[in-house]
This record gives sequence, C-alpha cells and structure tokens, in this order.
Amino acid sequence: MVQSPQQPQQPILTTSLPDRYRSIFKFPAFNDMQSICFSTLYQSDVNTVISSPTGSGKTVLFELAMLRTLVSDNLGNFKIIYIAPTKSLCYERYQDWSARLAVLGLKFGFLTGDTSVEEVATVKHADVIVTTPEKWDSTTRRWKDHDRLMTLTKLVLIDEVHILKDLRGATLEVVVSRMKYIAPHARFIALSATIPNAEDIAEWLGQNWNLRSIPAQLYTFGQEFRPVQLDIYVYGYPTRTANTFQLDKLYDEKLPDILNAHFGQKPIIIFCPTRKSTVTTAKTLARTWMKSREAVLACRIDPGRHFQDYELDELSKSGVAYHHAGLSLQDRVMVERMFIGRKILIICSTSTLSVGINLPAHLVIIRGTSAWIDGQVQEYTEFDMHQMMGRAGRPQFDNSGVAVIMTTRDKQSKYEQILGGQEVVESCLHNHLVEHLNAEICLKTINDVESGKGWLRSTFLYVRMKKNPAHYNIGITSPSRSIEVVLDQLCTENIARLHESKIVEISDKGELVTTIYGRSMAWFYIQFQTMLNFMNSGTGMTISDILAMLAQSSEFKTLRFKNGEKKFYKEINAAVGIRYPLKVVDIKDFGAKVSLIIQYTLGRAEFPVYDGAGKHAAQFHADKAIVWQNVQRLIRCIVDCKIQSNDGVSVRNALELARSLRAEIWDNSANVLLQLNGIGPATLRKFLNRNIQTFADLASTDILGIESALSLNKGRGMQYLQDVETIPRFGVTLKKLGETRDGSAVEIAVHVSVAILNKTMVKMYNRKLLTVGFLMELSNGELVDFRRAT
Ligand SMILES: Nc1ncnc2c1ncn2[C@@H]1O[C@H](COP(=O)(O)OP(=O)(O)OP(=O)(O)O)[C@@H](O)[C@H]1O
Ligand SMILES: [Mg+2]
Repeated sequence: MVQSPQQPQQPILTTSLPDRYRSIFKFPAFNDMQSICFSTLYQSDVNTVISSPTGSGKTVLFELAMLRTLVSDNLGNFKIIYIAPTKSLCYERYQDWSARLAVLGLKFGFLTGDTSVEEVATVKHADVIVTTPEKWDSTTRRWKDHDRLMTLTKLVLIDEVHILKDLRGATLEVVVSRMKYIAPHARFIALSATIPNAEDIAEWLGQNWNLRSIPAQLYTFGQEFRPVQLDIYVYGYPTRTANTFQLDKLYDEKLPDILNAHFGQKPIIIFCPTRKSTVTTAKTLARTWMKSREAVLACRIDPGRHFQDYELDELSKSGVAYHHAGLSLQDRVMVERMFIGRKILIICSTSTLSVGINLPAHLVIIRGTSAWIDGQVQEYTEFDMHQMMGRAGRPQFDNSGVAVIMTTRDKQSKYEQILGGQEVVESCLHNHLVEHLNAEICLKTINDVESGKGWLRSTFLYVRMKKNPAHYNIGITSPSRSIEVVLDQLCTENIARLHESKIVEISDKGELVTTIYGRSMAWFYIQFQTMLNFMNSGTGMTISDILAMLAQSSEFKTLRFKNGEKKFYKEINAAVGIRYPLKVVDIKDFGAKVSLIIQYTLGRAEFPVYDGAGKHAAQFHADKAIVWQNVQRLIRCIVDCKIQSNDGVSVRNALELARSLRAEIWDNSANVLLQLNGIGPATLRKFLNRNIQTFADLASTDILGIESALSLNKGRGMQYLQDVETIPRFGVTLKKLGETRDGSAVEIAVHVSVAILNKTMVKMYNRKLLTVGFLMELSNGELVDFRRAT
C-alpha cells in the first residue's frame, strides 16, 4: 500500500501518549513527518518502509514502533533487533537509547565485535539488540544455537536501508531475507534517506508474515520535510589528473571562492581526504582566506596555550583547526569545544568526524570525493557523503544549512543525481550468489531447487531483477525468456556448481545438504574459488605450502602492489626473520604481498631502513589490517578441510600456522616470550642468555633466577611469574590399554589425558573460553583422530 504524504490535520502532541512513554521524547510535538506515520507505527503492526530526508527525525519512528511492541507484549517476552550499517552508528544509537529509554525498563545490548563470552551474555539478556548487518549475519548463520532468540524476535528495525546498493549491502539483504524466514512473525520497519524506488523495498518486505505478496506500508517524504533546509551544491572541476597530490592542490586553490560564495558568518566544516591534507588545507586557509577575518575572531580567543599539538595551537589563533584520529583525545575535544563556542570558525577534518560526534556546522564542504579508505584511495560511498552532509544545518542549532561537494568534472552529474536522491537502489546479491546459496542450504532455508527459487523470490534482488534485468546481466535478452526461466537457471546452475564440487550433496531423502566443506565455507565466510583451492590442494602440506595457498585466496584480491612497493617488499623478503623467502617478488601476484606481510609479522622482522622506506609504512599497516581481518577465518577453514581429508600432516602444520597467526608470532620461535606484557626485545635477549625461551621455561624459573637474569631489584621478578601463569600450559599423557591383532591389522586401545599444568586453573585466555585441540596421527601422516574440547 503506497501512501503519499499529506499534511496531517494537526501535529500530534507527545501528551497523546501514556505518561510513562511521554517522557522519552524531549519535545512537545511530533513533526509533520512523524505525525503522518504515527498511527501506522504506534497503532498497527504492519511492516513499514519510510524514506525521508537526513535529519528529519526518523529515529523517533523506530521508537514509536518499539512502544507498540511494549504495549502488545510483556517485557522480557520479546527481542527487538536494530541493524545499522556501521559500528559507530550502532554505538551512537546504543548510548542514546540506553540513557533515554531506560525508564521503559528496556535493556539494550551492543553486538558488533568479536563474540566474547560477556557479549553473548549481554545479548541473551537484552530486550533490544543493536548490531551491524555483518555481525547479525554471523550470529544468525549459527542460529540453531540461538533458536529461542529468533522465536522471541518481534521487531526488526533497519536503519539506512538504502545501503543495500553498497558493496556490503548484500549482507544486509541476506540477513533480512533470512530473518523473514526464521523470525516470520516479526515486524519489519525499514528507514531510508531519500531514494527514488522505496516502493521496491516495500515490495521486498511485504506487509506482514502472512501477506508477503502485498507490499509493506510505504511513506515517502521529499526535501520539504527536512526541518532545516539544506542547499546542496556540486562543483565539478575539469582536470585530467587522478593524482591525489595535484587534486589536493587544485581544491585548495578553489576553496576561497567557495567560501566567499557560501559563507554565512557561521561555523564551517571542511572534510579532507587524509590526515595530512587536513593540516595543509587548514594552514593554507589560515594564510589566505582567514586573514581578512582574523580581526573578528581575535577578540574571542583566550590567550595562552590550548592544545598539546604545537601546530594546531598556532593555527587555532587564526580561527582554523584540524581534527583527525591522530590527535590526542584531549586536543580533539578541545577543538570541538572551541568550535561550538565559536572561537574556531573552520575545522578541517577527515570523514571520521562525521559519525558519532554531534558537531553542528552551517556550511559543510566535502573537499574532493575520494579519500583514503581501508588503505586505498576510494570514492566515498553515498552513505559516507550523507553522514558528512548531515553535519550541516542541524535542527536546534540552525534554520538552514549548505553542503558543497567539490569533485572532478566527470563525476559532477553522478553526484548531483545521488545527492538529489535520484539514484535507484539496486541489489548486490548477484555478485556472490553461489556463496549465499551455500549459506542458506547450510541453514536449511533451502533444501532443493524449488526452495532455492523460493528463497531467491524473497530477496530484494528478485524485486529489482524483474524491473531492471539488464543491470544484473543475467541473460534476459529476449522477451520470451521470462524472469521465472532466468530464476530457474540461476538457481539450478549455481546449485550444480556446489554439488559438483562436493560442497553440497543430495541426501537419501533427495534433499540438498551441505557437506562438512560447505558448512565450513558458510561458517567462515569463504569465497567459492578459495574453497575449491583448499579442497583440491595436495596432501602432506608443509607450513610453507599452506601459507602460500592461504595467501593466494581471492579474499585478498584487492591487495595489489602499488607504485614503488616492489623495492620495499624485496627488502622485506631479504630481512632476517622471514622464514620462507620468495624466489621472486612478482608484483603481479598479490599472494606474494600477503605472504610477506604475514611472515614479516610472525617473524618480527625489522622494518626496511633504506631511504624512502618510511613512506610505505601507512599503506603497509593498512594492508596488514586487511590481511588480519581474513587470515583467522581462512586458516580455520583450511584446518577443517584437512581434517576432512584425513591428512594428519597438513592438519598439524595448519594448526601450527593458526596458532602463530593468532599470537602474531611464530610458534616454537625464540620470540614467543614477547607475547607477555612488559617483555620487549631487550628483556627477551636477557632471558634467552639464560636459556629461558618458552613459557614453560619461564614458569619453572624461580623469582631469584628471573631477577638475576634481568638484574632486577628484589621482588620485581614476581610480575613475570604472575603474567606467565595467565597463559595456559598443557601436558598430555598417553597410556596404552591393550592391543589386539587380527591378521596383519592391529587394534590398539589408548587412554589419553590432557591436563592444565598451571598452578591455578585457567579457563579463559584473551577473553575467550579455552578450547583444546587434540590430534593423533600415524607415522605415515594419516590422521587417526582429531577432537576439540572446551
Ligand atoms: N518532533 C521533534 N521536535 C524536535 N526535534 C526533533 C523532533 N524529532 C526529532 N528531533 C531531533 O532532530 C534531530 C535529528 O533526528 P534523527 O537523528 O532522528 O534524524 P534522521 O532522520 O534519523 O537523520 P539521519 O538521516 O541523519 O539519520 C535529533 O536531534 C532529534 O532529537
Ligand atoms: Mg537516522
């Protein structure tokens, strides 16, 4: 049901709510947009999609839906799931709600990071779970453990649903499609910034669990519903260069014109692409444009020193500051405070300022549309752009705002479309369909081709495929090929690929089920091609073989060598500590880069010292972060694959590599003690001089021995013993119970016990419950048994 907004008769007052609900709203009346949606959200249970401009007060809509759930159900009898695209948005929401909605008796849980034991407990006890699509995906992939959680889910709140079209949109899409299946009775509310095809989202969600073919209730509101008018200007500059340095220069030259044109005697935030450019732009402006305005500001700034950062302190005197994650917290807070106090007129900031911090400006300038993101120069996503522009003209502070986007001429019209809310939201699910199908087969959402088609029909991809088949390149060329034929083909072909590669098999009952491989692939989010590589690798792999295979995973495809990095990586390849140097460093091979990053880290190699090596440091650390985001999953999947093929040698080596990756240090190396607090290279050397190399060596040394090794005063060695006691040490004993012979076959019964050798029981390590892996292999390398115990 589509409803175009009309003016409500009258704004609805918060006093129309029961007393105990009213107090959560800090204003007397709902605005027009909220009043129009009020009855649907608070007095009905239908799924609802609302598209409305940034800053128009959409959060209140979620709150009304929560109140509805509270009215209908008793506390403790339901779960509400709130999904937003980033951790920082989740955190902002979590903090605001925990404070403001506590009076309702609701308990909030924040679920975005690694699942530590405490986190799971929080979520079990929370009424409202605040989470990201990625985290909720991994939680619901294991949903059998969370059975009760799912049946309790009464309300699913999806914020910023237009991110469906971003790369990670596919995760949101599968997670919502899955929730529709496993929590069918839940109500779905999706909110979006202005988009042209909100009706597709309504069609996707359906009106409720039993009327899926009727679209959800839909409201769309135009820019006139922004409480504060935001004027958006896009300036495209003709240029042939993509060189960031030259672009920076160009934008800095143009900035004064922009400021002259849009300056409203009010605060300005300029978003710059890198930390460094925040500083240079701020300096340029202090030197040029601010000169004429210094006099006005001078009287406002208190004399004396305000900032720890010397340059910043100097600059601030001209009313300009920079703000980025490299500044101390104290300096950042001071910049914000002086900006609000109007002592600083311009902040030049990286995009990190746009989330989580409520700094209102009148004029926001996005100085260039590409920035340093995840270690590469990338265009901002639309979501990032909206977040930055959202700083301009915040209600309560201002009655209008201006956002200026500076970009290159070729991108001008693209940004005009996006920011005008005219870019259609398409699905991204087709890019990794085979992996998603496997995950759903694993979850038993899909158990044959028919249910596969049924699942596909429940996705947003299906809604969009019907309308814009050309976008998805799925071979609808002639009108005679109907969407159903294409759907059938998509499903059959992808399922056949999974079946042929033994990732899924067909059970006796004729149902599709995942094999151990398929389960591992879904559990650890492994790409199809990577999985095939793991499954088809040889037996008896050495650590070096496994490392090479892992480094070749398509998950790392983005880590190409950059200009000038060849020399840098050749140095690393030759460094002390690199265990398996590459024969050649082939710059066409991203696997070489990944392998060297891993080996550099595990071997604690020295950073190259040649002239100019330093300029690769930032990129190196960004690349390392990407490698570390993936390695744990990949190596655990390799272990699973090798267990499945009974290859004891490979399992043992993969486990050793897994341990090393977890600790970021080679297992069995002379460096292991570096993992303890307070042990650096110098202390390590002193221990090694006394033949103290392993945790066990250290634990069995007495205090005096430690103090003499390190030349410490009496009593100071205790700390080392306490620290080493927090690390679990295991002992294994094996007892042969008997032996029976039958021809040439021998059967041996053994009893194995594994014990913790620490003086006190260690149950957790690094906030995780301990798991013990037990591996038994024959002398020929065949795996006899592998088991895990907690
Ligand atoms: N009826 C109201 N009267 C006064 N202020 C309101 C009202 N509703 C919301 N606000 C305030 O407006 C501001 C913006 O609200 P909110 O963050 O919910 O907007 P939004 O539409 O979700 O924007 P975004 O697109 O940035 O997420 C908040 O500070 C909120 O407290
Ligand atoms: Mg919002």
